[in-house]
Amino acid sequence: MNFEEYEKAVAELNNYAYHYYVNDNPITTDELYDKLYHEVVEFEDNNPTSVLENSPTQRVGDVVSEGFNKAQHKSRMWSLEDVFNADDLQKWLTRVSKFDENVTFYCEPKYDGASLNLLYEGGKLIQAITRGDGVEGEDITQNAKTIKTIPLSIDYKESIEIRGEVVIFKAEFERINEERAKNGENLFANPRNAAAGSLRQLDSSITANRNLVFLPYGIGENSLDISLLSQRMEFIYSLGFKQPPYRATCEGFEDIEAVYEKMKDERESYEMMLDGMVVKVDGIEAQQNMGYTVKVPRWAVAYKFPAVEKITTVKDIILQVGRSGVITPVAIVEPTNIDGVIVERATLHNFDEIQRKDIRINDRVIILRSGDVIPKIIKVLEIHRDGTQRKVSRPKECPVCGSELLDEGALIKCQNLTCKARVVNSIIYFASKQCLNIDGLGDKIVKALFESGLVESVEDIFSLTLDKLLALEGFKEKKSQNLLNSIENVKGCDCWRFINSLGIEHIGEVASKSLCKTFGLFFVDATKEQLLGIDGIGEEMAEAVLEFVRVNYEHILRLQTHLNPKVPQPKAEVEENPFKDKTVVLTGSMSKPRDEIKKMLENLGAKVVGSVSKKTDMVIYGEDAGSKYDKAVELGVQTLSENEMKEMSDV
Ligand code: IVH
Repeated sequence: MNFEEYEKAVAELNNYAYHYYVNDNPITTDELYDKLYHEVVEFEDNNPTSVLENSPTQRVGDVVSEGFNKAQHKSRMWSLEDVFNADDLQKWLTRVSKFDENVTFYCEPKYDGASLNLLYEGGKLIQAITRGDGVEGEDITQNAKTIKTIPLSIDYKESIEIRGEVVIFKAEFERINEERAKNGENLFANPRNAAAGSLRQLDSSITANRNLVFLPYGIGENSLDISLLSQRMEFIYSLGFKQPPYRATCEGFEDIEAVYEKMKDERESYEMMLDGMVVKVDGIEAQQNMGYTVKVPRWAVAYKFPAVEKITTVKDIILQVGRSGVITPVAIVEPTNIDGVIVERATLHNFDEIQRKDIRINDRVIILRSGDVIPKIIKVLEIHRDGTQRKVSRPKECPVCGSELLDEGALIKCQNLTCKARVVNSIIYFASKQCLNIDGLGDKIVKALFESGLVESVEDIFSLTLDKLLALEGFKEKKSQNLLNSIENVKGCDCWRFINSLGIEHIGEVASKSLCKTFGLFFVDATKEQLLGIDGIGEEMAEAVLEFVRVNYEHILRLQTHLNPKVPQPKAEVEENPFKDKTVVLTGSMSKPRDEIKKMLENLGAKVVGSVSKKTDMVIYGEDAGSKYDKAVELGVQTLSENEMKEMSDV
């Protein structure tokens, strides 16, 4: 980088920062900002006499905007140095060990939100100040008082500053953006901007409506006599502050790496967004010995997670037809590497969503890939529009069979039962893992069998023979025989799998199990009243079953003859035991595979479900249980360790 490029980079960073902090509306990703920022730092390190006064490196924190009174922090609020890989972490650890060889570390999430400093005096919340430039921020006490996770009074009378991050949970972020889209307002790019924007509202009733959450991460001015940070944090939690989803004390590199991997893998299941893990020296005295550089403490570092957001371009918007006929628009994007995976498509959900987010072909967009979920477009970067963007209109005809579509608003449907896309997708679904789980009958094979004319409906699967398969291109003896064996093996399948594989609208695995448990194969004769009598089956589901049976009665009976599904023993045979008729959730890692424990509990008459609610009777936890355990405690749901469960199930 030469001086001219440096000057340009500084201007660009300042422009990014303006949109980010002042407008709460970023025009780039953190990753690109960080990259440019580090290039600027490198230039300045090599050319210390050329550093520009307006360089972002010369500023400690965010911009303090107009509208609120300024207020001073009692002790300075610091920023953190970032590390992005194990090598950098090791370098930091080496530096730390030069100060003190025997330090231990405290690791906690790096929350992605807005920092806030709370001042308590005489046990009362006196003032809440945003970080601002680290020395002085905005007094937003009125807004902070609307945040339910900020105690207005605490059982500790000395003066203390409690620092933390104000965040918006992911689910709440979706809700707010949906509402903003409905009102034609600009969407927040991510939960962090939503949190920062909500915190700095001049009208605190708006803040109150946003369900912000305060997560403490440190202490400023204080007179605590506790020598370890980890214990200080426990003390803070004991005052009524929210605990992190995971925290750990570590001895050194390997420990820290293991905690980092765990947090990185589990971050999807946390309710809040994390952008890394913070590693802090645990001993307060050691922290004091190490001190600070101009901007950051030497005793802490932010170990960043790989980015999940990228900027890309929408090349095209195509239409997919699902097995129920619903048309799903999909964005084809410029291939982009997100955390090691090349992303080429993003779901757009439906046409209302395209209109809400105003997504156009050739738009620059922020795309998010999290976990196994299909990537999605978070936001259009309107600032990059150059007149080449094209809107897509709602389709009138099925892109596969050409028949007229039914436009129900959010859903647009192809109603042609023989539409090729619908038929192929229902066969794929029939054979899929959650249904009959027919090995060797995946997407590609189903398509090939359909194209050849051998399989044009799920029933045709059962008329396949070796001769017929061998006549097809690419089907050798072994592959064909394996497929026939897999089809043979699904005969005698569980009755609920059979029901699930029919693909009745609104009827998934849980409902199929309930139907099977109550009626067995006689679900086809159940009346509406009988269906509604089942726990979890409502009006819409009951209607869907009745309608499906009405239209497909003969088809169901023929499939039943092919499959001969097994009906479980009637419920009455389960002996009395503490798990009978209980709704149970499993969490954390257990000594045996989850499925085994689930089966054992189901045999005892329990219903095992995925998420904790007020209706849950018990949460059974293994090692490193996370948010489901916390939720159970919060809702007062009974919690049992794996061992306690074993003792109780041995009755
Ligand atoms: S400690 C003296 N811990 O990250 C150390 N900060 O990039 C100061 N943040 O301004 C910060 N989670 O707003 C710390 N567990 C955590 C954090 C955290 C999020 C934010 C905080 C800080 C920024 C620095």
